[in-house]
Amino acid sequence: MPVKKPKTTSRMRVATTNTNRLLSDQVSLSEINIIRRELARVLDGHVPGDVVEFGCYVGTTSVFLARDLAPTSKTLYLYDSFEGLPDKTGEDASPAGEQFKTGELLATKAQLIKNLRAAGVKMPVIKKAWFSDLAPSDVPPEISFAYLDGDYYRSILDPLKLIWNNLAPGATVVVDDYANEALPGAARAVDGWLKNHQIESFRVENSLAIIHT
Ligand SMILES: C[S@@+](CC[C@H](N)C(=O)[O-])C[C@H]1O[C@@H](n2cnc3c(N)ncnc32)[C@H](O)[C@@H]1O
Repeated sequence: MPVKKPKTTSRMRVATTNTNRLLSDQVSLSEINIIRRELARVLDGHVPGDVVEFGCYVGTTSVFLARDLAPTSKTLYLYDSFEGLPDKTGEDASPAGEQFKTGELLATKAQLIKNLRAAGVKMPVIKKAWFSDLAPSDVPPEISFAYLDGDYYRSILDPLKLIWNNLAPGATVVVDDYANEALPGAARAVDGWLKNHQIESFRVENSLAIIHT
């Protein structure tokens, strides 16, 4: 059984309609709504570039992103090891996060594709790799929206490094688990990165960091 991410905020799991059904408990409906609101802001603002999700697991968020992108010409790119979580580093240490272990949250690429097909969405570009092994050519040259949900310090920092220079003016980056004491590496990666990189605005909602660049 995959570990459930304990969040510091209450988590709404009630799916009211079929299209709102969540494929896993790795993200709450209220967080999905925030992510979608941020994506809508980018779309309404005609920010150029494609959309990326690092750490897609079974596609819980990906299905919503893909649906919202359907009327647009933007491509959705999904990245995952499909081998579950890597080893923790020192920055990830937390007594509250003992349940997160190497290899947890393993979904196969086949499982993800099955879920995306069942949802009836256009198939995204899916790349199986450790984030640290991805090259600049693996990410779209222009990115309007990024959702980072790799849980650990390196799993947030590596994608930040990879995408930063490709973010279009006005792009948004949403990072999950920023306010999750069980996964302190996410906030450490974001805070360290933002010390040296200019942004337009930063705020936290639920456990999400929302970065407007
Ligand atoms: C919390 S889950 C993602 C949940 C997903 N965003 C959703 O909405 O259901 C974290 C995922 O990140 C992947 N992951 C974590 N660190 C990674 C890394 N360094 N390289 C590749 N994949 C990684 C894991 O395999 C796992 O599928």
